[in-house]
Amino acid sequence: MDLFTLVLPFSKCAAGLVVSLRIGERTPGEDKPMSDRPSYEQLNTNFNWVIAERELGYRPGDVINIGWMCSDRLCQLGLAEKLALLWEDYQGNQKRFTYNDLRVYSNTIAHFLARLGILPGERVCLFLDRVPELYIGFLGILKMGAVAQPLFSAFGDESLCVRLKDAGTSAIVTQKKHLHKVRKIREQLPNLRHCIVVDVPQASLQERETAFAMEQVPPVEHFPIYPTKAESPSVLHYTSGTTGQPKGAQHVHYSIVAQYLTAKWVLDFRPDDIYWCNADPGWVTGTSYGIIGPWANGITQAVLDSGFNAGKWYEFIEKYRVTVWYSAPTAIRLLMKEGAEIIRKHDLSSLRHLASVGEPLNPEAVIWSKEVFGKPFHDTFWQTETGCIVITNFPGMEIKPGSMGKPFPGITATVLDPRTYEPAKAGLIALRPGWPSQIRGYWNNPAGYQAKFRNGWYLCGDRASIDADGYFWFMGRDDDVINTGGHLVGPFEVESALLGCPAVAESAAVAKPDPVNMEVVKAYVTVKQGYQPSDDLELEIMNHIRKRLSPLAMPQEIEFVESLPKTRSGKIVRRILRCKEFNEPVGDLSTIMDD
Ligand code: PRX
Repeated sequence: MDLFTLVLPFSKCAAGLVVSLRIGERTPGEDKPMSDRPSYEQLNTNFNWVIAERELGYRPGDVINIGWMCSDRLCQLGLAEKLALLWEDYQGNQKRFTYNDLRVYSNTIAHFLARLGILPGERVCLFLDRVPELYIGFLGILKMGAVAQPLFSAFGDESLCVRLKDAGTSAIVTQKKHLHKVRKIREQLPNLRHCIVVDVPQASLQERETAFAMEQVPPVEHFPIYPTKAESPSVLHYTSGTTGQPKGAQHVHYSIVAQYLTAKWVLDFRPDDIYWCNADPGWVTGTSYGIIGPWANGITQAVLDSGFNAGKWYEFIEKYRVTVWYSAPTAIRLLMKEGAEIIRKHDLSSLRHLASVGEPLNPEAVIWSKEVFGKPFHDTFWQTETGCIVITNFPGMEIKPGSMGKPFPGITATVLDPRTYEPAKAGLIALRPGWPSQIRGYWNNPAGYQAKFRNGWYLCGDRASIDADGYFWFMGRDDDVINTGGHLVGPFEVESALLGCPAVAESAAVAKPDPVNMEVVKAYVTVKQGYQPSDDLELEIMNHIRKRLSPLAMPQEIEFVESLPKTRSGKIVRRILRCKEFNEPVGDLSTIMDD
């Protein structure tokens, strides 16, 4: 049997699941194209990235600097007094910054770094909560030609040390509350010349530590931007490590061309939007679409420096009249868990466009959001390595719930047979290299990057199928796919069926060794409030999913757990559960939430 036949039942199964939920029909409804919005097909015809270059005022060979493009350029376009950042923290402290503030404060930071002796090309780590200095500091680092290396402030000292060592980082910008972690690893990091602390006086600091209060030092009106070019390194992002050692993904300044246009088209930006991206800039979503995309478009963005709390989130949307919301399936599932009652207590009528990224977006989440917000979440697929959205439910496009949509114009995407690397109907997601925000390599690891290419394609490491209309349906990470008796089962289909059960809050389907079938499906499940794990509940869940899954994809076992292992960006790490089943070591866990 060839591979196509092997995987076909499961791509059929995805369609079957949708049909059985009666959500497979196309849903033009609320998502109809707005009259002034060109359709996906129109935009796809004769697409050229030059559109974005022109809109950004860039010509090949020019200086191109993300820090300048996201601040000074907007001021030159007459947006100096427009609000760029509406910031609030968990205690309710608030700050507002205009585009002119972004320009001046990022100059101030760039000037300060240059005076410290940081050189263009050196890595400067941002190790901060979601405070304004993180967002504006990012622009400042880029303006003086250094490379921004944002890391989650929740990292422990070991996770931090591994990444600073690998990158040979020269300076780190942090806060008082995280300083002890830097001090602990300092001796192991000979390249780390400076530790900059944004919220303490110099008197409380030690040698090689410098206080810098962005809003208190004399503002720098004019700063000579370092003349970075298209291929100059900009951002070094460490990937979330669901599949092993974290890798430093190296982005360049030209990436803004793709981030600008994908943000504009996919997030459907309009000049008066108030945009909220839930992601922390320690994750690529928080930089590509939490800094560069919105600011390159001159959009006002709101930032909430606080963990997940459904009530607080809805209050935030209501208070700031958020219109465009970019979130993630984990957050959406948590909101679903809290129920619809709490939503009715808030006026969320400002919401106009919703999008999601990071994990497969289950059909239930799309249906739910249409019910409770009156808008579907639009799934978007991409990676740290792609730098921008590559497959997406385009605004105005008919959404097929459970599908990732179609390739962004200018992105050539397909799926390849994993044995021949030839295009197939189901297999490995592959992209033709050459879009502007594709990373230029992994830091210190050229072989690792080379291994991502086959037959002229970049391989994402994920599996999907493509239906007759050209929609992509996610199956799972390539290494999460379960091989049962030679049949490949994508965890997403099993998990989607499980999430259709009223009792199930979250689920993860992984392979479990089996003497007969080599592997069988095992499901880990957390239950919603009001349900208790029991044999009866297991039976009930099994009965529920039996109607939706092929017999091969049926879990042989369900294990109830308190929580599932996740990365800091909220992705379920099936690898850990799989290793548990196979009694194997789990490897690097430095991005896992509970470390
Ligand atoms: O497995 C895919 C999953 O997240 C991976 C990329 O993770 P990261 O580099 O952290 O970047 C995520 C944010 C851009 C992918 O290889 N993934 C991302 N989006 C989706 C997804 N899986 C399914 N559906 C998605 N929409």
